[in-house]
Amino acid sequence: MIDEIEQCRDAALAAVRGADSVDVLEQALGEHLGKRGPLASLKARLGTLATVDEKKAMGQRLNEAMAAVGAAADERRMALAAGERAQLLESERMDLTEHQREPRRGHAHLVTEAWERLEDVFVGLGFKIAEGPEIETDWYNFEALNMPPSHPARSMWDTLFVDHGAPGSTVLRTHTSPVQARVMTTQEPPIYVVAPGRVFRNETADATHMPVFHQIEGLVVDRGISFADLAGTIEAFTRAFFGPGFTSRLRPSFFPFTEPSAEFDIRRPDGSWLELGGCGMVHPNVLAACGIDPEEWSGFAFGFGIDRMAKEYHGVDDLREMYSNDIRFIEQF
Ligand code: DAH
Repeated sequence: MIDEIEQCRDAALAAVRGADSVDVLEQALGEHLGKRGPLASLKARLGTLATVDEKKAMGQRLNEAMAAVGAAADERRMALAAGERAQLLESERMDLTEHQREPRRGHAHLVTEAWERLEDVFVGLGFKIAEGPEIETDWYNFEALNMPPSHPARSMWDTLFVDHGAPGSTVLRTHTSPVQARVMTTQEPPIYVVAPGRVFRNETADATHMPVFHQIEGLVVDRGISFADLAGTIEAFTRAFFGPGFTSRLRPSFFPFTEPSAEFDIRRPDGSWLELGGCGMVHPNVLAACGIDPEEWSGFAFGFGIDRMAKEYHGVDDLREMYSNDIRFIEQF
């Protein structure tokens, strides 16, 4: 019987020590130490032994064998549990150090960059910055600019109207030119201002047009201002903004608020031309409408698109790209 006890114990120890998971271990324990297991059936045979001493001795050996298996199982259970926990921790591991990498730096929108650089250039030329509202009255947007109601030139701007006040009396400003009138009605000459801002037109977006875009307006009113001052200012601006290889030219044109009027183009170093904007000598009617005596003061004005300028500056094909919010587009600059 001693041999049988030792065999059963060793088989149980081998099963317990060989268990590769807590589940397998508990199952092996059940099989070897359970009520129907081999050690239990040996125990049942104790009663058949002849002497009390024999019963005692075998009983003790059986108890020792069972205790040894139990102790081995406890040890194995701890080792397996520790391993399983380590495995769980590893599988659920999160690498938080990833977020400690150097943060990537973005930059301002291309139009914002151009806007700010334009301000810098004009401030460097002695201009101040002026502002006006994006929702404008018909008077500032058109009438003060020498376009009385139903003047045909109003059709140069596809206007978006705001449902406020008398029908047609309130508009989303179609250009930054109304800021000229706002400045002249509130400030005494001499005036040297630029007014960058958002403008709106009832137009479908395409490669060169957006219904919402940006312009910068320039206005100078002083004594003895001539067309030569206008041409010189445009030229100085062109070189300061684009670089020394660039020059400008003026072509005759028409705007109701300037007389004479011109369009100005920028000549790139490769000889090609970029049409940039409009300009001219402030019309005497505009000065008078804003309370400035045209006999004493004269001035020039200009206005051009900032978005188109940023587009040209960076060689972007399609204006709509600039508003796509596609990170791959933005990251190129
Ligand atoms: N406001 C004009 C436009 O949106 C541009 C312009 C032309 C502005 C001539 C001026 C100017 O100040 O003198 O097309």
